[in-house]
Amino acid sequence: MQHFLTLDDLTKAQLDTLITRAIELKKTHHRGEIYSPLQNKVLGMIFEKSSTRTRVSFEAGMIQLGGGSIFLSPNDTQLGRGEPVEDSARVISSMVDAVMIRTFEHEKVERFAEYSSVPVINALTDLYHPCQLLADMQTYVEQRGSIAGKIVTWVGDGNNMCHSYINAAAQFDFDLRIATPSDYTPDANIVANTSATISLHTDPREAVEGVDLVVTDVWASMGQEEEQKKREKAFAAFQVNKDLMALADNEALFMHCLPAHRGEEVSAAVIDDPHSVVWDEAENRLHAQKALLELLMA
Ligand code: CP
Ligand code: NVA
Repeated sequence: MQHFLTLDDLTKAQLDTLITRAIELKKTHHRGEIYSPLQNKVLGMIFEKSSTRTRVSFEAGMIQLGGGSIFLSPNDTQLGRGEPVEDSARVISSMVDAVMIRTFEHEKVERFAEYSSVPVINALTDLYHPCQLLADMQTYVEQRGSIAGKIVTWVGDGNNMCHSYINAAAQFDFDLRIATPSDYTPDANIVANTSATISLHTDPREAVEGVDLVVTDVWASMGQEEEQKKREKAFAAFQVNKDLMALADNEALFMHCLPAHRGEEVSAAVIDDPHSVVWDEAENRLHAQKALLELLMA
């Protein structure tokens, strides 16, 4: 049985095949062809944090593949009233064919997977957001071809998305520059244990010089709302704006997992520029996760 808790759960070959498959499934869908390999299959979807893209893409994806899904919020389930993760995992997995979880502690997803009898997908934890990276890699390949050998710069917080970019750098063979304020660097263990070529910077201008892709994310992630004001000050010099993008390669793309705050981590001019591929990136959540569901469930 195969789980997808981080990008490291799949091999490089599996990931390459998955991206190719996502691009194919997108074309199939745009042609209006029905493809339903997951008839009668059910995806359980546990959301302990908010979501627009992740929920819509997994639910729509399951319907399009011929199956269905169940949305489970802690407000309405016994998980929210303290039923142990181990017990919930055994029970839920006895009734569905895969489980997707968005929560706070990454360790909770690992514990759920340990006791689950079906594949478990990490739909975002405080530490990683691997599903988003599938969409980001698909988007880069569609726009520019292989990302191997390219240079990507992460600007902003050393957060869950940044950690998944570190994993992606190793799995998809690109160089990663990470520009953060010194108090917001990525997790030291993840940095120490990667086989990827990465470099840490505190000057975003130096980090984006000549690069092929610039990526950012919100300054305060879900669960950090009370730090918003403090973070706005700390990250003030880390906005991705036209001046910063001008230092990257002429053909450089801009990505953001969304939701975005125009005027904070990204200027309106950058996110609404033709080099911004954020709408494709968001749509590709659907196609990339359909390829993932097919791999794990079919
Ligand atoms: N990018 C992303 O995961 O968006 P949602 O929080 O809307 O699911
Ligand atoms: N880093 C953000 C990503 C949202 C999709 C968060 O965790 O809130």
